[in-house]
Amino acid sequence: MDAEHMGDDLATVMFTEEQIQDRLRELAEQVWADYHDKDVLLLGVLKGAVMVMADFMRALPGSAEMDWMAVSSYGSGTKSSGVVRILKDLDTDITGRHVLIVEDIIDSGLTLSWISANLRSRGPASLEIVTLLRKPEAAKVEIDVRYVGFDIADEFVVGYGLDYAEKYRNLRVIGTLAPHVYS
Ligand code: XMP
Ligand code: MG
Repeated sequence: MDAEHMGDDLATVMFTEEQIQDRLRELAEQVWADYHDKDVLLLGVLKGAVMVMADFMRALPGSAEMDWMAVSSYGSGTKSSGVVRILKDLDTDITGRHVLIVEDIIDSGLTLSWISANLRSRGPASLEIVTLLRKPEAAKVEIDVRYVGFDIADEFVVGYGLDYAEKYRNLRVIGTLAPHVYS
């Protein structure tokens, strides 16, 4: 789905398809410089990270494994509840593995902080995070994120995997919604 298919639901385009892909390629190069000699396991958090995973993974100049986890921390609204529950756990035993969490967005950081602690307790050799977007002003906990695509303002964004009430994930760009969508 392209921006012109959004009718008047989209208020602004924050990142075009090209900007997203260019930045993911840069992140992939950076990551590969650090992981080329390691057997890296990319860990995606469903469902928002689906698009980032697909494009980031293909931008890597070498092979990497992938696994997925699903947690609930958001309802259909726009604010983090802080309550995290595992809906689908990993298939992989990450003991002694080099794990790289692939995220779409870090908002309050509460979800990722919980996931990181949970994964650390399983004894990985290393655990780092790559995220396409981060909202520094919204941070409620400090998280050490090694690879960040873009820092953005504390605004709700949709597209490229990010949803509002499960809609707009298939939008190719990332943008903000018009106020009438929320009411
Ligand atoms: P926290 O606040 O725990 O939230 O860091 C992380 C998860 O919340 C979702 N999220 C968003 N989803 N637009 C979205 O479509 C946003 O602006 C947004 N901010 C947070 C997302 O699933 C993320 O993984
Ligand atoms: Mg997410």
